[in-house]
Amino acid sequence: MTSTAQAPQTGARTTHPEHHLGHVIFIAAAAAMGGFLFGYDSSVINGAVEAIRDRYDIGSAALAQVIAIALVGCAVGAATAGRIADRIGRIRCMQIAAVLFTISAIGSALPFALWDLALWRVVGGFAIGMASVIGPAYIAEVAPPAYRGRLGSFQQAAIVVGIAISQLVNWGLLNAAGGKQRGTLMGLEVWQVMLGVMVIPALLYGLLSFVIPESPRFLISVGKRDRARRILAEVEGEQVDLDARVQEIESAMNREERSSFRDLLGGSFFFKPIVWVGIGLSVFQQFVGINVAFYYSSTLWQSVGVDPADSFFYSFTTSIINIVGTVIAMIFVDRIGRRPLAIIGSVGMAVGLALEAWAFSYHLVDGKLPAAQGWIALVAAHLFVLFFALSWGVVVWVMLGEMFPNRIRAAALGVAASAQWIANWAITASFPSLSDWNLSATYVIYTVFAALSVPFVLKFVKETKGKTLEEMG
Ligand code: GLC
Repeated sequence: MTSTAQAPQTGARTTHPEHHLGHVIFIAAAAAMGGFLFGYDSSVINGAVEAIRDRYDIGSAALAQVIAIALVGCAVGAATAGRIADRIGRIRCMQIAAVLFTISAIGSALPFALWDLALWRVVGGFAIGMASVIGPAYIAEVAPPAYRGRLGSFQQAAIVVGIAISQLVNWGLLNAAGGKQRGTLMGLEVWQVMLGVMVIPALLYGLLSFVIPESPRFLISVGKRDRARRILAEVEGEQVDLDARVQEIESAMNREERSSFRDLLGGSFFFKPIVWVGIGLSVFQQFVGINVAFYYSSTLWQSVGVDPADSFFYSFTTSIINIVGTVIAMIFVDRIGRRPLAIIGSVGMAVGLALEAWAFSYHLVDGKLPAAQGWIALVAAHLFVLFFALSWGVVVWVMLGEMFPNRIRAAALGVAASAQWIANWAITASFPSLSDWNLSATYVIYTVFAALSVPFVLKFVKETKGKTLEEMG
């Protein structure tokens, strides 16, 4: 079916009246607050680790466990979120995540023991996992098709802004505490304040979830046609034939197979190829090593002779490049489509990573590369982040929100996001040992994954640009 064939009937792809578009932008931005918390929470810990190590007098291995355990929470939160969202609705699911974010921020800021801190980090991880599923699913379900890519990108934009803001907040708080890792502010150690500040965006997320409407597709799936019709009018405009839209969504759902949690556990869910494409997108997004660039940036900066004490400014530069790339993706995702962006990104990432592998094949003397190779490694790493941001960063979250049929969307997205958190953990946990073994070979591995992602997209990923959600699957 061509993308214009149904336009007069449903009005879904016609130009959107400005006031409705403004409203949908607000709704998508409010839902993307979950993405902000995702970025903020997963990155804020980087500024707190040294102080936590010192405070509890633990070694690197124990510290790594405390950090990694949050990722387990993320994977479980993502896997469960789909079920919750299908049962009680997308908005309620956001509210649960907001409550968990809030109590985890308070608990992590005021722990009475190390295990207590780890526990609150798991709770926070669970909330991040939920937010990583509910944001893309909800935005895709309320967005008009012509703008769905751009609105869906709000999630990734919020993640990257969350990462950047957490770096700024950590830096500002550390300075306010006189630059001492364990300096105090308002009677608390600075790392406690870093973790506690998250209460503010968490409460805002909770408040915003009370003013945005429930997803019309969820409402139709539970038989609430009239409310769904009212919300469709709110987001798509009165000029659209609303009865035809409701009908279209309903009949698409009736055509689709219902998928229950039992299918998921029993494995029949995993017979659906589309679920595997989602898992593949997630795994490739992580296996190119993007989070190594964020979590272990000091390895890179030190290899060009930068003083670790200045690492904030340099990590922040990486974040700015990440934001610039994301904006480029937002401009193009609905114009040139998801697949071409992903392929351009894969090629750019493979080149950047291969250059890093080459540069790190030179001997490090006192942790430093020869000058020329050092600079090439630095430029290559930023080229890699730029290409990731303008492609796989945005495209994966947008596609995971929109590519699955209505009936299995939340559950399938939950599985794919969960796989992404496990892949994230596998890469970040293995980097220290891999890099001790051979840093250059480690980058060769990431390069191979970037290169393999091209045939994966060409063969398995279908373009979703401009289609209604009912045309997917
Ligand atoms: C994507 C990835 C996330 C990563 C971020 C970096 O959101 O899913 O793991 O930290 O991009 O921008």
